[in-house]
Amino acid sequence: MRRMTAEIPQETILEEQACMQRVRGMAGRPASYFIVTYGCQMNVHDSETLTGMLENMGLSAAADRTCADFVIFNTCCVRDNAERRALGNVTWLKELKKTNPQLRVAVCGCMIQEPGMAEQILRTYPFVDLAFGTHNLYHFPTLFEQMVLKQRRVIEVVPDDLGTVPEDLPIVRSNPYQAYITIMYGCNNFCSYCIVPSVRGRERSRDSERILREAEALYRDGVKEIMLLGQNVNSYGLDRPEGMNFPKLLAAIDEIGIERIRFMTSHPKDLSPELMDVMAGSRHICPQLHLPVQHGNNRILKSMNRRYTREIYLEKVAMLRERIKNISLSTDIIVAYPGETEQEFRDTCSLVEQVRYDSAFTFIYSPRTGTPAAKMPDQVDPETASRRIQELIAIQKRITSENFEHYIGQTHHVLVDAPSRRDIHQMSGKNEYNITVNFDGSPDMIGSILPVRITEARETTLRGTLVQA
Ligand code: 5AD
Ligand code: SF4
Repeated sequence: MRRMTAEIPQETILEEQACMQRVRGMAGRPASYFIVTYGCQMNVHDSETLTGMLENMGLSAAADRTCADFVIFNTCCVRDNAERRALGNVTWLKELKKTNPQLRVAVCGCMIQEPGMAEQILRTYPFVDLAFGTHNLYHFPTLFEQMVLKQRRVIEVVPDDLGTVPEDLPIVRSNPYQAYITIMYGCNNFCSYCIVPSVRGRERSRDSERILREAEALYRDGVKEIMLLGQNVNSYGLDRPEGMNFPKLLAAIDEIGIERIRFMTSHPKDLSPELMDVMAGSRHICPQLHLPVQHGNNRILKSMNRRYTREIYLEKVAMLRERIKNISLSTDIIVAYPGETEQEFRDTCSLVEQVRYDSAFTFIYSPRTGTPAAKMPDQVDPETASRRIQELIAIQKRITSENFEHYIGQTHHVLVDAPSRRDIHQMSGKNEYNITVNFDGSPDMIGSILPVRITEARETTLRGTLVQA
């Protein structure tokens, strides 16, 4: 049974807004903040909401973490190394706290939702002042106020049994031309390796009217590109049967006029012909799709509980390519899943050769406590895992470079983002395929979508020259 979704009551949100005003006028509260974000776009977007709340409370952004009065770590727990990196950095702040006793430290995000983790952090890291999870992000102003007023540590972890979505929270977007819109929270898929469903909760879709209004407001603000976010956007709306499904939502957003629309993440099992048709017939949806395959072998896909086969996946890729000319595909792949044999790993390699992605994020399987795969026998040894991932990376690198060669001579449209990191006279931005393109230009081009003729392919980026009008 799918649970129905409701919004967090308006009174609650109003209380949080009143709290932000109180904190604003509070003497002795931290004056500056710094947020360290780990993990996926969902976390990046949550950090934009945290920024919005902090700015509403009168705090200003610190240039770096060493000079902030308040530092928040927005954590990820999808793989062990993400978790260790976050905790390692939290420890580093301990020293800073010795020199600046006013410094307050908070840890939030997915890691805090792991069973027992909040308690463990508070026990092991006595200098952490505040901990809260993903389900009570909207409650942050109250928690912050308690921390400042009561001069004590505050911890609040809410289990996901509410089926609610927050609305009307302030957001400070990190880029004026590109914006994220969360369309749904949580995931119902329970892939056997994945901890996300237990830390982000069940699928909850936002009301489509609210999403459309948000997209219209962004359009009016001059935003050129939006990214619709959800752990599994293709099942958007299934918990709101009276509303729109994902293809209908996309078609409605396409009408608004925002120049570029992207979305992630798409689960292959729910990638429907209806969605492909909307993509094919749209004016603004980019010809690009992130379609995590995870593995190329059917026994492993079944054990992962992915609910598609290699053949079904390849068939969907073929359908996409038939309908959307030049679509650029990217993917996520896990190697060394428990029990993965050499032959099964070869199936992943051959799938990568067959699909010829423009890019792939490759991960060594990382056991996550509480997930079915963590209890499976035959965990692959680290040396084998490392050899396999190196081999896969090498294959993908070759394919990326071969694909990129084909782009040479084409004219792409680049949303200019910033000067390139290496050279101030070079501008950098993403083309329609979500690939970084660098070209000679000037900062006044930032925020425009400009035609660039591709002249050169680098390892993960392209170079080109501006096409003069
Ligand atoms: N180990 C390794 N990779 C994982 N991912 C999710 N869970 C794990 C895990 N336990 C990868 C998947 C997913 C991406 C966001 O992270 O490939 O698509
Ligand atoms: Fe994790 Fe699978 Fe849900 Fe993606 S679809 S968040 S991999 S459970």
